[in-house]
Amino acid sequence: MSGDRRTNLQSCIRHLMTAVSNASLYNLEHQQVARLCETALSDLLGAMGDGEEVALLLVDEELVFADSPLDSNMYVNRFSRALKSRGVGHLRLLRGVTHQELKLLVGCLSRQMGAGGGVRSTDHVRFGRLEVLTASPFADSATTWDEVGERPVPSLEEIPAEEVARFMDIYQGVRRHRKLHVVGISEIVAGFVDAFQQVGNPFLALAPLRALDEYTFTHSTNVCILNLGQAMALGIDGPLLHDIGIAAMLHDIGKLFIPEEILKKAGQLEDDEWKLVREHPLKGAQYLLDTPGVPRLAVVTAFEHHMRFNGTGYPAVTPGWRQNLCSQMTTVSDCFDALRSNRAYRGALEYDEISDIMLGQAGNELHPLLTRNFLKVLRRLTGAQTNPANPSRQEGAPR
Ligand SMILES: [Fe+2]
Ligand SMILES: [Fe+2]
Repeated sequence: MSGDRRTNLQSCIRHLMTAVSNASLYNLEHQQVARLCETALSDLLGAMGDGEEVALLLVDEELVFADSPLDSNMYVNRFSRALKSRGVGHLRLLRGVTHQELKLLVGCLSRQMGAGGGVRSTDHVRFGRLEVLTASPFADSATTWDEVGERPVPSLEEIPAEEVARFMDIYQGVRRHRKLHVVGISEIVAGFVDAFQQVGNPFLALAPLRALDEYTFTHSTNVCILNLGQAMALGIDGPLLHDIGIAAMLHDIGKLFIPEEILKKAGQLEDDEWKLVREHPLKGAQYLLDTPGVPRLAVVTAFEHHMRFNGTGYPAVTPGWRQNLCSQMTTVSDCFDALRSNRAYRGALEYDEISDIMLGQAGNELHPLLTRNFLKVLRRLTGAQTNPANPSRQEGAPR
């Protein structure tokens, strides 16, 4: 993501919010509003770069563009508040947008409409809602779900066997010190995204947890699918969606540098073994950093995926470190996939039990909004599935 695009976006928001002020002060047809909308449009085209859209996501109070929050300033803050007060969680500005459509957006956000006033998508300005549930996410219906983002999450009937085999081959290559084939991973993720985009049975077949030495790739595949589900429910699309999938596929790649006997150990780990396990985020990030073609988001996610929302977890970082949005999604998906697997000290948990545990962690170890979004995705995707997909893995303490 070039800095120029972010700068252009900041400038676009500044001009839009200035137009909002003018529209409130005079009216929407004032020439100053028209002029500012034209300037905002030219900024917006700069922010789009070669892409087809600019997608903005409201997470908590922050406006996230690509994979990181926009620098906060008066205009960005006002823009976020205006979207939030109208129930908008996500905004996509598509190529082809006209200054007239931007003027309508300004009208929606101006005082004339009032806070809480309605917003209406146009051909190239698309609003998405993002609900934050206060009760159990399982209490509401699929109808409510459909209001999250702009479309229902499509289904994935099954992971194509050849994709799984291909991923395993790439992973085993890394273990044998071959270079990682990022293109191969990228194509697999593109295949998953395509599969998600097909309309089909609303049922997600997470990969069954397989034999021990296949665990890491099966787990990575599951986390990838769960991340894609989360991201799509938030209305994320295009290159960012793809990078989020790649980041998930590669999040545990550092485990390939931990001796297999430790990874497979069923019982409690010794202190020195734990120390090695806890190095996998750093080792993974270092490996990916040295691999050409790996998205930066994947490097960051590998490093941060065991950090926790409340500042616990590992590796140790400087105070005030903020975990990337994709890392936080991966933490949520990772937590789910760990809970649904068999442990040496317990069997696999049912989905309802898992959701209770995850809701208990929301706001502590897990990002509250992302967790609730995840559980809604899961409810939708697994509505027909009462048992976890044939878990067979046994492992020791959560790692
Ligand atoms: Fe991990
Ligand atoms: Fe993991």
